Amino acid sequence: MVKLTPPMGWNSWNTFGENISEKLIMETADIMVQSGLLECGYDYLVIDDCWSLRERDAQGRLVPDPAKFPNGMKAVADYVHSKGLKFGMYSCAGNLTCAGYPGSYEHEFVDAETFAEWGVDFLKYDYCYHSPIVAGKYLYRRMGLALENCGRDILFSACSWGSDETHEWIKESAAGMWRSTGDIFDTWESVKELTKQQEKLHPFNGVGCFNDMDMLIVGMYGKGNVGLKGCNDTQYKTHYSIWALLGSPLMIGCDLRSMNEETRKILTNKELIRINQDPACRQPVKLSGIWCGEDMVIYARMLAGGDIAIGIFNLSENPGAGRFNLDELGLPNSTGRTLEMTEVWTGEKLLVTNSTISRNLAPFDCEVFRARLVRQ
Ligand code: GLA
Repeated sequence: MVKLTPPMGWNSWNTFGENISEKLIMETADIMVQSGLLECGYDYLVIDDCWSLRERDAQGRLVPDPAKFPNGMKAVADYVHSKGLKFGMYSCAGNLTCAGYPGSYEHEFVDAETFAEWGVDFLKYDYCYHSPIVAGKYLYRRMGLALENCGRDILFSACSWGSDETHEWIKESAAGMWRSTGDIFDTWESVKELTKQQEKLHPFNGVGCFNDMDMLIVGMYGKGNVGLKGCNDTQYKTHYSIWALLGSPLMIGCDLRSMNEETRKILTNKELIRINQDPACRQPVKLSGIWCGEDMVIYARMLAGGDIAIGIFNLSENPGAGRFNLDELGLPNSTGRTLEMTEVWTGEKLLVTNSTISRNLAPFDCEVFRARLVRQ
């Protein structure tokens, strides 16, 4: 399946780990609709690891754990579909999944058929316990081929964490997105680390095979499976803004049943979602900036129709200024154009008539602008 803009949805792992059930998935589906998230574009509901029994059945098929999913997966898929959502599941290229459940190694085709029978629309495919002999590129190519031949449109979400030079071979595997970073945790250090890890991979993001910076931690506040210290709302806002601007898939990871208003506001910022889902899917660029220091990062992305998204991110615990020259965006003085900029969180409008932009930011805060070229 080819998805033309970054996939959006919810995934069970960050908060729930192995504590997943039919009830949780149904309640989450209800809230995705009621809270307006589906309307904003979050349409995939994905069950991560730990959904199956520890053994396959006599026919070699995967079996949902009846204690967690008493009515089987088809029933869950039907419910999810009845809400207008798409249904995602998880497996692994190794013998075992990362949490030790059966993986799809040497069962790729039968598993793809099983997922298709259940009505699965998305498969996250992990990389734990993979063969030391068969290279990752062959393992992902296999499952990609199996999914393309299973009789159902299933988005292939590769999850080899960027290892073994994933960027060099992942597009040949029919993956629609690929994990370009290690696992996220609910701490500011993790957000910062993944942001920096991503920089050398910006050129590999593009239509139909998106760099996946991992699921969002917005709204976790230290609770749940990958919840450690947690972050504050400013940090969640900046984390979300970076993922959105860089064109990562946006998979929510918090417990939607107890989502507060601030979390809902962050996750439903329509202007940022519009930037994330921009149809051109161009690669982001990192600007050099002027005297910015390594924790004041500025990213930009040229959008369809010639607008530019510009994000200034203060990753540091100190206040600071983000400065850059318009020349870096392709707009030297000689063009006679200037920028009309609208900030996506506050709606503030700026008309930039000289060649340098300088913005003061509070600790961990950010500004993201949608900029339009106007004549001076
Ligand atoms: C790996 C993945 C995570 C999650 C877990 C499940 O660590 O990177 O996103 O799927 O496995 O065990």
